Amino acid sequence: MENWAQKVERLLKQQIELYGDEEVLARQSLQELLNSSLKGESSEDWRQSENLFIMNDRISSCLQCPLGYTRKSFVFGNGKGDADILVIGEAPGEEEDRQGFVFVGRAGELLDKILAAINLRRQDIYIANVLKCRPPQNRDPQLTEIAACLPYLHKQIELINPAFILCLGRIAAQTVLQTTTSLEKLRGQAYPFMNASVIVTYHPAALLRFPQYKRATWEDVKLLRKLYDEWLTQKSMNHGR
Ligand code: URA
Ligand code: URA
Repeated sequence: MENWAQKVERLLKQQIELYGDEEVLARQSLQELLNSSLKGESSEDWRQSENLFIMNDRISSCLQCPLGYTRKSFVFGNGKGDADILVIGEAPGEEEDRQGFVFVGRAGELLDKILAAINLRRQDIYIANVLKCRPPQNRDPQLTEIAACLPYLHKQIELINPAFILCLGRIAAQTVLQTTTSLEKLRGQAYPFMNASVIVTYHPAALLRFPQYKRATWEDVKLLRKLYDEWLTQKSMNHGR
């Protein structure tokens, strides 16, 4: 069991990772967190979490599915807490499990290049996965695991409230859109979900194995960029009124 000093150190690291230089937000979060622990709130209260930082703290010792017993790290997600664009992957891999952060392995390097191609950087967006814990040997997530973890993703979407969601790969696409339609058929258009438009594309790990999917991925992210630019224009016009 970690002692008090270790807990504060871990929380500070988490909040720096979550909020970067948004110091005001980070301070508020820590204050709310300390308040809630003084009030004796338990991890059952995660659904009422006011922000991502509090939520992460409340669910990070989750044992709702067997993956909780084999993970090294609970990989909550990283990025800008109020991002316009939320990217959703599948599950942590070996490197993510080791470090506790999303997309820090080879697929992550490729993801950075894909984002750069449409003029986005990690600090502009938020990245999360369908599963917060690594499946052994990176096997496909099981439906029971997805079902156990999905309320967390939905709460993250609610808190971030993105205008766009980019799903990477079949698992993310089918999970978010609640469909069994193939990725190939889902590509090429936007779907409404919560307050967002959802666009789906191939997973960067798939692109490493099948480079022939790169052209289609490029088209998908260009569609995202186009819709996002239109949305930004619309937003600035509304502000100007
Ligand atoms: N693949 C994913 O889907 N998510 C990660 O965080 C890393 C690799
Ligand atoms: N096929 C899939 O199901 N997912 C990918 O990401 C690529 C190909």
